Amino acid sequence: MKHSKLILPIFCILLFSSCQSDPEISFESSSTEEFRPLYHFTPESGWMNDPNGLIYLDGEYHLFYQHYPDSTVWGPMHWGHAVSTDLVNWESLPIALYPDSLGYIFSGSAVFDTENTSGLGTAENPPMVAIFTYHNAEEANTTSETFQSQAIAFSLDKGRTWEKYEGNPVLPNPGIRDFRDPKVSQITNTDGSKSWVMTLAVLDQINFYSSPDLKNWTLLSEFGKKIGAHGGVWECPDLLPFKSPSGEDKWVLLVSINPGGPQNGSATQYFIGDFINGEFTPDDTMIRWLDYGPDNYAGVTWSNLPSDQNRTLFIGWMSNWLYANVVPTKAWRSAMTIPRELSLFDIDGTLLLKSAPAKEMEKLRFEEFKVSKETSSLPSEAVEITAGVTDNSFLITISNELGEKLIISKENGLVSIDRRNAGKSDFNRDFAAMHSAPMSWEAKDIRIFLDASSIELFVNDGELAMTSVLFPTSPWKTVGISENLKSLKIFNLKK
Ligand code: FRU
Repeated sequence: MKHSKLILPIFCILLFSSCQSDPEISFESSSTEEFRPLYHFTPESGWMNDPNGLIYLDGEYHLFYQHYPDSTVWGPMHWGHAVSTDLVNWESLPIALYPDSLGYIFSGSAVFDTENTSGLGTAENPPMVAIFTYHNAEEANTTSETFQSQAIAFSLDKGRTWEKYEGNPVLPNPGIRDFRDPKVSQITNTDGSKSWVMTLAVLDQINFYSSPDLKNWTLLSEFGKKIGAHGGVWECPDLLPFKSPSGEDKWVLLVSINPGGPQNGSATQYFIGDFINGEFTPDDTMIRWLDYGPDNYAGVTWSNLPSDQNRTLFIGWMSNWLYANVVPTKAWRSAMTIPRELSLFDIDGTLLLKSAPAKEMEKLRFEEFKVSKETSSLPSEAVEITAGVTDNSFLITISNELGEKLIISKENGLVSIDRRNAGKSDFNRDFAAMHSAPMSWEAKDIRIFLDASSIELFVNDGELAMTSVLFPTSPWKTVGISENLKSLKIFNLKK
């Protein structure tokens, strides 16, 4: 790494050669609220954690989420709701599910019951069915172990209004404290018949259940007691079919774990293997992480995508339970990651999961700046930076007028994001840290998504991803780059 060739920004000099007519770019901040992201989804106010019930229907991507509208810290969970037709602009809708006498509404998923197997709709108007966990908080404060159970609700008007099924819970608790986060999908069996399969986090393992009608569930198998990372409780699983690069059918099982991630606290691991006759068998015992940054947790994928999209779309909660409740935002807490497309790739015979920015993110680009010098001003808090990497190493320093710095690098096989001096960090003693990830193969290009309070780094279009939240006390102003980065471009992003 040729650090000496990096000219660190001192003054904010305009050095862009812009494709647009006006080369004089002045810094503009379109967010009026401190730390409010400009293009990541945030709730208008109140608390948010996990994405829930991701489903596509009739041109709309639905994003439900863990939400407590009455406070900016975690509390009685509701399902908040937003929709988007392009994955970039989100419209907030009224709360979808409220807690009731059976408990808080914890994480879960949504399916479109096309054939009305549940009988909760009609053949002409099949229901959207949400499968979620009831968490009975009062009971949780006792010695009872049965306070989490699975339940369903349905909507006959595209997710706008919901009715809870009167026979809830559909999967009562067998006596296990951590019994939650059902992700349901429809699987075609070898004889061509279809069944609903539920993937459930049970303490620190995954249980698979099957159902003909979303109401009656039978245990198929258990997975994971002796494999994978076990530093904390397992949460928010998701079972996904993929084709490997050589055309083989493979299954990927996402499992969030808290704590016990590759950095401090929460993270999402995954397993690659086969799912045959209701049983998941991993190909190997390797521990794999979806994102090596500290702030991508509880992510899951969209159901019911039209087959012509031919992709798996993911979104994660951009925070970490270590400090989610104390980050220095005011009216709201937490944002989602950008939507990402997951696929399998192969490095020297090892299959790994790639998470690339969803192609819709390119719609946000509204001005492109070709950077000709080693130090440039940033046109906004919302930018995408792209570059080619020439010798498997890079160093990028993003700074503001107060001398705060965010450093992104690859050196000696480690990709790092250093937020030790990147703004506010006194709210948690673990926050100011440098996070690194091993990347033994060659880095060829990078994409960086910067927003008012986050960075998402994608190396080789997501062969390695790192997500980190940050709270600079003054907006980022300049970017300094090492000489071995080529064709550097900065896109001003705008919704
Ligand atoms: C994951 C999680 C889930 C749970 C939800 C509660 O972040 O702990 O396991 O359902 O959050 O809000």
